[in-house]
Amino acid sequence: VEPDAAWADEVRRLARQRDAVLLAHNYQLPEIQEIADHTGDSLALSRIAAGSDAATIVFCGVHFMAETAKILSPDKTVLIPDARAGCSLADSITAEQLRAWKAEHPGAVVVSYVNTTAEVKAETDICCTSSNAVDVVASIPEDREVLFCPDQFLGAHVKRITGRRNLHIWAGECHVHAGINGPELAERAAASPDADLFIHPECGCATSALYLAGEGAVEPERVKILSTGDMLHAARETKATSVLVATEVGMLHQLRKAAPEIDFRAVNDRASCRYMKMITPAAMLRSLREGADEVHVDAGTAERARASVRRMIEIGQ
Ligand code: 13P
Ligand code: SF4
Repeated sequence: VEPDAAWADEVRRLARQRDAVLLAHNYQLPEIQEIADHTGDSLALSRIAAGSDAATIVFCGVHFMAETAKILSPDKTVLIPDARAGCSLADSITAEQLRAWKAEHPGAVVVSYVNTTAEVKAETDICCTSSNAVDVVASIPEDREVLFCPDQFLGAHVKRITGRRNLHIWAGECHVHAGINGPELAERAAASPDADLFIHPECGCATSALYLAGEGAVEPERVKILSTGDMLHAARETKATSVLVATEVGMLHQLRKAAPEIDFRAVNDRASCRYMKMITPAAMLRSLREGADEVHVDAGTAERARASVRRMIEIGQ
C-alpha cells in the first residue's frame, strides 16, 4: 500500500464512516502523522482521547497507549492498527513484580510511567509521562516514600530535579532510548559546539549530558531534557541554528515542521522503535476496514487503573 492521495482519501472516508478520530504519537511514520487528526506526545494524546466525542478512537502508537485511551473511555471502541505493537519499557515490570515491591515498602506512593500495562496501572497511585513526571512526584508529601517505575533514566532525572532521597527507582529501560549513549552524545556535541541538545529523559545519555555540562565540556544552557511534546515548544523558541536530538527518530518529522530553518540531527540515527513502525499505511487501512485490532481491558482492572490515569491528567495542566 502506497501512502498516496487515494490512500489518504480512503482512510478519511472510512474514518468518517466509523465516526473515528485518528491519533498518532510523535514517533509514528511521517505519513501516519500527516493523516492523523492529532499528533502529539503520550500525555497530550491521553487528554485528547479522554475529551473526544468520536465513537471510535484509532490509536496509532503502541499498545499501552491504546489501552490508556480505553481505560479513560470504556464506552468507546478503541482500535490499534496492529496489536503486536508492544513496548520494551512496559514489558520491564509486571503487576506481580510491582505487588512484591510494594510489599517491601508498605505505605509508599507508587508512581508509574504511562509506559506500563493496564494491570500495572491498576496497582499504581499516580501515573505520569515524561512531561509531568517531576510535577507528579513534587505533588506527593515530602515524608511519603515513593516507588517510581519502570524507567530508571526518567527516575534518575526526576530524583535529580526534585532532590528527593526517599524515591526508589525500578531498573527498567526502553531498548531504543537506553541505546543512545553518553560517549556517542559527547562526540556529537564536541563536533557541533553551537548546537542545542534536546534529550528525552528515557535516554541512557541524559545523565552524561548533565555531567558534560557540569564539567564545562558543553555549555549548560545548550542541554535541554525534554519530553517529545516539550521538544516542539523548545524548537519554536530556541535561537540555535542546529539541534542534536536524542530520542526516537520519528520525532524529527514534527521538529522539522515546527522549525524548518533549524538543522535537526539525530544523535543516533539507528534509534528507531520497531513497535511504533508496525503501524504502516496498510495496517491503518485494514484497521478502519475491519474494525481491528480492538483493545479490551477487563472492567475491574480498568476501574482501578482509571484513578491513577485521571490523577496524571489533572497534574501539570
Ligand atoms: P512522550 O511522548 O511522553 O515523550 O514518550 C515517549 C515514549 O517513549 C513513548 O513511548
Ligand atoms: Fe516503548 Fe521505547 Fe518504543 Fe517508546 S520508543 S514505545 S518506550 S520501546
